[in-house]
Amino acid sequence: MVRDDKLLIANWKMNLPGEGIEDWLRLVKADRTTSVAVAPPFPYLARVAIADSGLTLVAQNCSAEREGAFTGEVSAAMLADVGVAWVILGHSERRHLFGESPQLIGRKVHAAQQVGLVPVVCVGEKEEIREEGKTDVVLQEQLAAALEHADRGMPLIVAYEPVWAIGTGKTATAEIILETHEMILAKLDESGFRDAPLLYGGSVTPDNAGELAALNGVSGFLVGGASLFSDRFLRITQALEQVALKSSKKG
Ligand code: PGA
Repeated sequence: MVRDDKLLIANWKMNLPGEGIEDWLRLVKADRTTSVAVAPPFPYLARVAIADSGLTLVAQNCSAEREGAFTGEVSAAMLADVGVAWVILGHSERRHLFGESPQLIGRKVHAAQQVGLVPVVCVGEKEEIREEGKTDVVLQEQLAAALEHADRGMPLIVAYEPVWAIGTGKTATAEIILETHEMILAKLDESGFRDAPLLYGGSVTPDNAGELAALNGVSGFLVGGASLFSDRFLRITQALEQVALKSSKKG
């Protein structure tokens, strides 16, 4: 995995796609060249795995613990066992609705890498943090804790998802994405994660995907709401593919 890879993750959260799982997978599979990954809720992971769609299978969370008396938890090894390849960690809904601390997220990143899962580490600031001018400090703290025990020799993906942009229809401006991605990428380089792709997430839609995908430092998207219908999601994959095609011609 390298930073130039174009990646797209459909994060269904606690929803199922409008047309049903198998139809969504069939339609998305038939029409894509970008690397597409899908994160269904836990109980459907195996069903997506056996549908043999060729899409990368992603879990939305995992436990920091290996095994034991942890009711309701799912270990990274169990996810790997059912065919999961990547796991989203530190999503803002986990941080803010379920009280996950930066340290816990760091332990989860370690647990995931230990069994060969690729962590998709999400970082993002709340609106008041941006207004107070503290975005860089907060994001750097989140990153430092998430990467504290991470293995630099193993693949890792980061997603910048401003909390105020998630599910709100209020996408970050190009200017905000450019400057924030530049800061995060510098931090990743400095910490030895030079190959880590950096995704953007937060109200990505078919209408803004082309413009956002063309921004420097954007390797792709983590898509929530707009991933729930294959036609909307496919328009996003196509926008990303066009940008990838243009840059490969230039390069
Ligand atoms: P959204 O969610 O696309 O619905 O804003 C993004 C995410 O939470 O990953």
